[in-house]
Amino acid sequence: MHNDIKEILISEEEIKAKCKELGKQLSEEYEGKFPLAIGVLKGAMPFMSDVLRYTEVHLEMDFMDVSSYDGGTRSSGEVKIVKDLDAKVEGRDLLIIEDIIDSGLTLSYLVDLFKYRKANSIKIVTLLDKPSGRTAAIKADLAGFEVPNEFVVGYGLDYQEKYRNLPYIGVLKPEIYGGEEESE
Ligand code: XMP
Ligand code: MG
Repeated sequence: MHNDIKEILISEEEIKAKCKELGKQLSEEYEGKFPLAIGVLKGAMPFMSDVLRYTEVHLEMDFMDVSSYDGGTRSSGEVKIVKDLDAKVEGRDLLIIEDIIDSGLTLSYLVDLFKYRKANSIKIVTLLDKPSGRTAAIKADLAGFEVPNEFVVGYGLDYQEKYRNLPYIGVLKPEIYGGEEESE
């Protein structure tokens, strides 16, 4: 285990098994369709790669980079587009792939944007769901694991751009981010 990690919440093996399970569900969901899978950068990258490898439908992959965080552990409440999609959304069946839904602000912004762009359908798959953090009315169609109100890192999730490459989901030692505990 990495020295900055207090505890492993979800192991590499558990993540892999969950990706297989979710991939199977997505195959059924999108049978006969050609969905546009949208990875929300950068955090969703490992999850997107793993979950889509277990789907058996043809799909298109695209990426969107939005940011609602300023490098800290709390949402700034502001969403900005850092990189937009290449693909056209109109008439498409969208599958948004996220690492974690916390406040839900990022996703509610994206869902509104894709509705405005006339998507045919919009579904959300997230690896992690932190319901205690929710301020926007957003629910995932598929969610891997529920996590407690702690700042988690690993498997795509970062703290100041570090820890994304860890193969598991863990909780950082509080002293790494200045001893401040999540309270919102
Ligand atoms: P919201 O609050 O908009 O959050 O649902 C979406 C994005 O915020 C990041 N996020 C986290 N990143 N540990 C992280 O490393 C966390 O506990 C955490 N909570 C939210 C993440 O990028 C997510 O896509
Ligand atoms: Mg993210």
